[in-house]
Amino acid sequence: MPRLSLGAGRIYGEAAFEILARAQALEKQGHRVLHFEIGEPDMETPDHIAEAGIQAIRDRKTHYVPSLGLMELREAVVEEIKNTRGYTPDIGQVVITPGLKPGIFFSMLATVDPGDEVIFPEPGYPAYGSAAAMIGADPVPVPLLEENGFRMNPDDVRQRVTEKTKAVIINSPQNPTGSVMTNDELREIHHIAREHDFFVISDEVYSKMTYDGIPAPSITTYDQARERTILLDGFSKCYVMTGWRLGYMVVPAVMADRLRDYLVSAVSCTAAFTQWAGLEALTGDQSFIPGMMDRFTRKRDRIVHGLNQVPGMYCRVPEGAFYAFVNIRGTGMTSQACSEYVLNECRVATVPGTAFGAAGEGYLRFSYATSLDQIDEAVERLITAFS
Ligand SMILES: Cc1ncc(COP(=O)(O)O)c(C=O)c1O
Repeated sequence: MPRLSLGAGRIYGEAAFEILARAQALEKQGHRVLHFEIGEPDMETPDHIAEAGIQAIRDRKTHYVPSLGLMELREAVVEEIKNTRGYTPDIGQVVITPGLKPGIFFSMLATVDPGDEVIFPEPGYPAYGSAAAMIGADPVPVPLLEENGFRMNPDDVRQRVTEKTKAVIINSPQNPTGSVMTNDELREIHHIAREHDFFVISDEVYSKMTYDGIPAPSITTYDQARERTILLDGFSKCYVMTGWRLGYMVVPAVMADRLRDYLVSAVSCTAAFTQWAGLEALTGDQSFIPGMMDRFTRKRDRIVHGLNQVPGMYCRVPEGAFYAFVNIRGTGMTSQACSEYVLNECRVATVPGTAFGAAGEGYLRFSYATSLDQIDEAVERLITAFS
């Protein structure tokens, strides 16, 4: 067989899916596994959104559509940004993508060259480092420290800037730590990006998922995504549409024009009926979101309280998303060993912090998008195992 490309050697996957496969193998053997590994809300797509997608298929909205997305949906995104971020992008800045993840890839492909440096949070979503490595850029992780509430510290970013820095990736609310960055921190990072002339890619997929009614500020407000900031958001988490594959980008207009050709070349367009469902998601009834966040608040409080009872574990309160990032140093185990131990001994599936980069050593991620009963049972099993 001929040699695969260098990029094929550099790109990497996601541990959560491997752990899910191992947990499912245990279930096949008859064990009852409690799942805390997958980052997906434990609900179905709300009916009115699903119905809009079904109706679109009945109406034969099953053909190619413009690569940048349906005009109706792009207009709804303009309205959405006006309502949630406080600025009004031009329609020419809005790009629809099949999920947020392609937005990570396409924005990197459009901004980063081999040999450039990309700064990103660690622990962080694996796709950032993977996409940067695939392109042949140098990944430059910034450790997120528990003592700083797992927020990216602008001074740490500044220290890592070189003349090769081409982009910094921001993710707030953050996966896997649940941290939410402050306006001051974002302003400072935007300032550094302007000073050194690099891009800011802001993954805001959990933007609607914050607690205590405190919204997450967006770094894109500083230039309204007109010059160097790139906003990525989507429907997977807050509208429970992971399998529909729908996301959007708000980018400088010149970049949107180039993204059109990336999309034409790679995917032609995002599925039409999915976009009609997305239009209903953005413009239809939003009342299920506060209800969902109320339930997540109860789950968050329950799991944080519970995990703090487990000998050797410490869990801070996340401000957004639905992940508890638990310090397990007191157990004396590595993240990998601890995750394997709790899967084998307690039948509780978690993700080791190191799946999100080396700076995740000493932590486990629990996705608490599950029932209160499962949370209670998992905590009981852990207390028994670690006592
Ligand atoms: C931070 C972050 N960005 C992006 C994604 C992927 O979003 P999508 O399913 O819309 O591609 C996820 C999913 O877990 C995520 O946690």
